Amino acid sequence: MISFTSDQRYIVTGASSGIGESVALLLNELGAAVIGIGRSRERLDGMKAKAKYPENVFLEQKDLTEDIEGLPAYVKALKDKYGKFQGMALCAGIGRTAPLNAFDLSEARKIFDIDYFAPLMMTKGFADRRVNTGRGAAIVAISSIAGISCEKGLVTYGGAKAALSASLKAASREVGTQGIRINCISPSFINTPMTQSTPNEELLEKASKEYLFGFGTVSDAANMIIFLLSDKSKWITGQNYILDCGTY
Ligand SMILES: NC(=O)c1ccc[n+]([C@@H]2O[C@H](COP(=O)([O-])OP(=O)(O)OC[C@H]3O[C@@H](n4cnc5c(N)ncnc54)[C@H](OP(=O)(O)O)[C@@H]3O)[C@@H](O)[C@H]2O)c1
Repeated sequence: MISFTSDQRYIVTGASSGIGESVALLLNELGAAVIGIGRSRERLDGMKAKAKYPENVFLEQKDLTEDIEGLPAYVKALKDKYGKFQGMALCAGIGRTAPLNAFDLSEARKIFDIDYFAPLMMTKGFADRRVNTGRGAAIVAISSIAGISCEKGLVTYGGAKAALSASLKAASREVGTQGIRINCISPSFINTPMTQSTPNEELLEKASKEYLFGFGTVSDAANMIIFLLSDKSKWITGQNYILDCGTY
C-alpha cells in the first residue's frame, strides 16, 4: 500500500480543479503535505475543504504564466517557506481545439506558456539541489494522448504536449544523476471541467463509441500519478504512460 508522511511535501499545480485536485486530495489522504497551486482562490479553498487532513494542505494562489522566467525562483521561495520537496505533480494546463486554418500564433503562445514553458520552468526550479530532498524525489507531469496520436484540431495543444514529454524525457536523464525521477502520463478523455467546458464534439463522439470502459475519471489519472510519485515506482523514470482505455 502507498503511504506518505506529513514531512513529505509535494507541490501540485492545477490543484484547484480536475485531475490536479484529485491528486492533491489523494496525496493528502495518504499522509503527505500538499502545497496546492491554482489561480482561483475560491476553487483552491474548495479543494482544501474536501481534504481529509486540511492541516496538511497549503494553498498558493498564482497564475503560472504571469512570470514564467521567474518560476525557478518561485519554487525556491516555496522551499524557503515550507521546506524541501519530495515531489511535484504538474497538472495545470489548458485545452484548446482549433484546426490548422484557424491557427493563431498569439493563441498558440498562450497554450505553450501554460502547457509547456511553465511546467518546464517549474521542473528547472525543482531540480535545484537546494529545493528537493534528493535521491527518491519525483516529478510527474500530465502530457496528453494528443502529444502522441494527434487528432484533427489538436495542432497546437498536441504540439505543446509532445514538446513537454520530449523535454521531460531529456530532463529525466539529467536529474537522474541526483536520484530524481521524472515521468509523464498521457491521458485521453478524462471527465473534468476542462473536457466539459471545451468539448470537441467529434472526438467525444468517437471516444464514446471506442472506449471499452467509458470515459476516464479523475481518480483513474490520480492513482497513476500517485504511484509514479511514490517509492513503489523507484525504478521507473523517463517514461510517458498512455491512459486511454486501450484505444490508440
Ligand atoms: N481532462 C482530460 O481529458 C485531459 C486529457 C489529457 C491531458 N489532460 C491534461 O491534464 C491537466 C489537467 O486537466 P484537467 O482536465 O484536470 O483540467 P481542469 O479541470 O480545467 O484543471 C486545470 C487546472 O489548471 C490550472 N491552471 C490553468 N491555467 C493556469 C495558469 N495560467 N496558472 C495556474 N494554474 C492554471 C487551473 O487553475 P484554476 O482552476 O485556478 O483556473 C486548474 O486547476 C492539463 O494539463 C490537461 O492538459 C487532461
